[in-house]
Amino acid sequence: MKFYIATDHAGYALKEFVKDYVTSKGHQIIDLGPDSADRVDYPDFAKKCANSVISDNGSFGILICGTGIGISISANKIKGIRAALCHDAYTASMTRAHNNANILCFGERVVGKGVIENMIDAFCDTPFEGGRHAGRVSKIEDCSMGSNLD
Ligand code: RB5
Repeated sequence: MKFYIATDHAGYALKEFVKDYVTSKGHQIIDLGPDSADRVDYPDFAKKCANSVISDNGSFGILICGTGIGISISANKIKGIRAALCHDAYTASMTRAHNNANILCFGERVVGKGVIENMIDAFCDTPFEGGRHAGRVSKIEDCSMGSNLD
């Protein structure tokens, strides 16, 4: 699999660890920054990663901030992105199986390295189930096209 990774300053300390782990599993990972632990705004890096995933068909992303919340909310504003904030192997596996997630998000202040390895394994090893989930995933796109009043 091919991944793009980006963080904010509160996720920066995990970036090299995640890159090494993903590479050790035989996947490719492209670092979109930041290049230091200086304070940055997570929407800027969410956007970089989300745009890369959208422009590179079949690729995936990993986004890390302090909680994983801000960076996942931001990435999900980009059309075609399904960025899942995960906390364990179960959520990482289910978001591939049911949501066809294309970006794995987590919080550096929330999960430890062992859990991160398990999440990456689960995300990589679980295919999208399709079937009844395919229609629901296409309705996710519909959600961004109008109000919720109908
Ligand atoms: C940065 O302090 C922090 O707010 C950010 O990393 C993230 O947790 C926001 O959702």
